[in-house]
Amino acid sequence: MQKIDKLHLGIMVCALPFILSFWGCASLSDNQTTEDYTPTVEDSLTFQQNEHLGRGVNLGNALEAPAEGDWGVTLQAEYFQLIKDAGFNAVRIPIRWSAHASSSAPYTIDSAFFDRVDWAVGHAFTTGLLAVINMHHYDGIAEDPSTHKERFLSMWEQIAFHYQDYSDSLLFEVLNEPHDQLTPNLWNGLLQDALNVIRNTNPVRTVVIGTAEWGHVQSLKELVIPVEDRNIIVTVHYYNPFHFTHQGAEWVSGSDAWMGTTWTGTTEEEQAVIDDFDEAANWAQKYHRPIFLGEFGAYSKADINSRTRWTDFVARQAEERDMSWAYWEFCAGFGVYNQGTSDWNYPILKALIP
Ligand code: BGC
Repeated sequence: MQKIDKLHLGIMVCALPFILSFWGCASLSDNQTTEDYTPTVEDSLTFQQNEHLGRGVNLGNALEAPAEGDWGVTLQAEYFQLIKDAGFNAVRIPIRWSAHASSSAPYTIDSAFFDRVDWAVGHAFTTGLLAVINMHHYDGIAEDPSTHKERFLSMWEQIAFHYQDYSDSLLFEVLNEPHDQLTPNLWNGLLQDALNVIRNTNPVRTVVIGTAEWGHVQSLKELVIPVEDRNIIVTVHYYNPFHFTHQGAEWVSGSDAWMGTTWTGTTEEEQAVIDDFDEAANWAQKYHRPIFLGEFGAYSKADINSRTRWTDFVARQAEERDMSWAYWEFCAGFGVYNQGTSDWNYPILKALIP
């Protein structure tokens, strides 16, 4: 073992506080933690932004279908005013950009599709709603992340450039429900790359980032976001118990067998939801990040009383923990609004906005 002479020992002792503080910093950025972290002004602005997001609804099954209308929803100008008048603060607009961008470099996004998204965001703004636009149903990035990474980042570069001058009422959400081959680890790398691309043109835009493994609360513990970027809202989705919320869902195999599952709000049922929300809230407190519950809902094949009860309970759990939320979704299979009768599905609406 090498001897340590007095001089070197002295240097080491003097340097110890720096070494320790360096370790402190290193562990802060590794784990994004906390105890001695003092929230900044920027943190409070992001929490404020999350408050503005407040109560929202997903304009689902429209722009994230292969082509708008394919899944029975074509956005109408009057939807935005209806949503605003009902008391919502925001819309989340799921968008399948990948169906409207060329498949080879430079992966140009179709300008007519940009026009359509501009139209939707424009209507949100004129009615006083915040808008979250995301990247939805990009199957390739889940199936084969390394092949699709360049295209994914290029689309974000174009989207970020296109909307750089929009006000802070527009939020970018990097990717809906990362899953499959896009593991938590790969997602942590990709989200950082996407953030770098976005920050080039949008240094002060609020960016929404979700968890891997389909946006589950339980995946929060695997999420690593850059500690120095304080303008991030973290998002999770909530569909538990899945056999209840997704009974009879055509896109979930085996879900017919769950038909008839109720949610009566027994102590046990409520406790399961409470535990999940506590887990999310504890994570948020530890890492000083606001949380947006970006999707939750129960499919229309469940009985309306159970749906109403569950929706009310989940929305209140989120609110009690200062989370913003967006119901899944406006006027399709989970609909809070009925396109056929051009009227609200009042039990669900009242559960959302009592
Ligand atoms: C998916 C929708 C689905 C919903 C509930 C969303 O993230 O994009 O297609 O209906 O989750 O399963």
